[in-house]
Amino acid sequence: MHETILVTGATGTVGNEVVKALSSEDVKVRAGVHSIIKGDRLKVFPNVDLVELDFARPESLKVAFTGVTRVFLVTPFTHNQVEIAKKLIDEAKQAGVKQIVRLSASGADAEPGIQLGRWHREIEKYLEITGIPYVILRPASFMQNFINFERTSIVQEGKIYQPLAEGKVSYIDAHDIAAVAKVVLTRPDFKNEILELTGPEAISVPEIAAVLTEVTGRTITYVDVPEQAARQVMSGIHTPDWMIDAMMELNYILKSGYGATITDTVEKITGQRARTFKEFAQQNADCFIPENL
Ligand SMILES: NC(=O)c1ccc[n+]([C@@H]2O[C@H](COP(=O)([O-])OP(=O)(O)OC[C@H]3O[C@@H](n4cnc5c(N)ncnc54)[C@H](OP(=O)(O)O)[C@@H]3O)[C@@H](O)[C@H]2O)c1
Repeated sequence: MHETILVTGATGTVGNEVVKALSSEDVKVRAGVHSIIKGDRLKVFPNVDLVELDFARPESLKVAFTGVTRVFLVTPFTHNQVEIAKKLIDEAKQAGVKQIVRLSASGADAEPGIQLGRWHREIEKYLEITGIPYVILRPASFMQNFINFERTSIVQEGKIYQPLAEGKVSYIDAHDIAAVAKVVLTRPDFKNEILELTGPEAISVPEIAAVLTEVTGRTITYVDVPEQAARQVMSGIHTPDWMIDAMMELNYILKSGYGATITDTVEKITGQRARTFKEFAQQNADCFIPENL
């Protein structure tokens, strides 16, 4: 029988890569999308069906989980992510799902840790006691953050503004997270495991600016933003206080070097070394040139 794998957050950074990675496997992929229109670009992949999935609408959860055998569980960065994730796990249990692969985050088990990690750990613990076989992926910060959040200033001003000083981070490409997800969702030998996923190097934002300069041929420099100024900028664009606090806590630990640990888990599981930031930049060079903004 074919496995039917539900991917939540399927239009997001990691979900999209997981759908793409699974589409070449002998499984049915059900892409859970917030709105069918936004999910249009996923229709190009073979073996992929779209299902409307709104975390706020329980009836959409019921439909999305019916007949599903495995789940790749992503929840967005919201203040109620624990509540949302618990509902999704409950729904998976009711549907008789036989495996959940959960996208968590690096440092989720740190004590006392930071708010983002504590939320993730609460969800992990909830999953661990359900009895549903699980694999928890704890990735480092995504390389894609430099496209999703820094692209406009990189392209328009040749600058990356961040409050990270020289802090080195073992950034990971979402492509590699998806490569791991594909293996653990399609091979039977992964059960109740926690996998810490990082890129192959720890790199600072000034070093990232130098890589982007080399790859794009444009001068890109790093501007180290003081904490207070970073807070003011976020506040100026109406970022909620809880999110500013959570982001600044994260930035502080990354600046202090706590995000620099490197693991070889990606290579061990997929057989392929995780991508370096330079390889990611070469792969996505189009995103960093003015013509494509
Ligand atoms: N960014 C990092 O560096 C990093 C590092 C480690 C861990 N993480 C974790 O990764 C997770 C986020 O993954 P991501 O970056 O791939 O997500 P993302 O790109 O922010 O995408 C979020 C997805 O959730 C969907 N969504 C939002 N609200 C929804 C709702 N009410 N109902 C159904 N779907 C909804 C979005 O669809 P729409 O766009 O249509 O709303 C989108 O597909 C978070 O748990 C975060 O803590 C992030």
